[in-house]
Amino acid sequence: MDKIALKCLLPFKKGTTEQNKIANYFDHQAFPSLMAGLFITLEGIDGCGKSTASKELARILESKGHEVYLTLEPSESWLGQAVRRSYTEEISPYTEVFLFLADRATHTLDMEKKLADGQVVISDRYCDSSTAYQGEALEELLAKQGIDSVDWITQMNSTVIREPDITFLLDIDPETSLERLKVREELSKFEKHNYLEKVRANYLRIAKTEGRMRIINARQPAEKVLADIQDILEESFKHQH
Ligand code: TMP
Repeated sequence: MDKIALKCLLPFKKGTTEQNKIANYFDHQAFPSLMAGLFITLEGIDGCGKSTASKELARILESKGHEVYLTLEPSESWLGQAVRRSYTEEISPYTEVFLFLADRATHTLDMEKKLADGQVVISDRYCDSSTAYQGEALEELLAKQGIDSVDWITQMNSTVIREPDITFLLDIDPETSLERLKVREELSKFEKHNYLEKVRANYLRIAKTEGRMRIINARQPAEKVLADIQDILEESFKHQH
């Protein structure tokens, strides 16, 4: 809260309804400007609920007066379509990672324009998806060359990304996530128990080194997941000046 707001609070007794009301007013006023140009990403294994959470978060922030750009990876451009097409093709795991990176490089430019405009950008998946998923797909191949796949992809990513301000990792066990995905007619090549278990482990490893990553318990009901995200966002950006 700024100095003007604090001055306004002085005539009121500490902790009274009047003081709380005015404090809330100033917090609410400060919140939109502090969030302008904020870059939020949501991550997690398939079936963790991040797409629903991204959409709901966008809706809530818009209702609070923010201009929000909701996007996803693979992106909706022709590059993203090429990535999706590759899911059913037999391709080298190197081709796979380079396709995701190629899409990301251009998607980043697109998001940077929105951020420069002062919009809040929410991306459903971004750089950490490659580190976690392709980190597993390339683990054995790269280990033969004495290379750690997670470190390698982190480095590859760093050349094409804009660092997110905050990343929510919707953490869930593969048993629960696959149970949720049962309603789908067909599962993708990524949606297998052992694979998702390793992807989850990679995500948790990333969370240990990336300060921007906040772990959310995604086994909770969707409303609680969203409430946790909102609480963290407000706590992280409300009081920054
Ligand atoms: P989704 O649209 O359901 O999130 O699916 C995208 C799939 O692509 C999901 O299984 C995760 C996978 N993926 C990667 O393997 N690497 C990446 O870099 C991205 C963005 C997605």
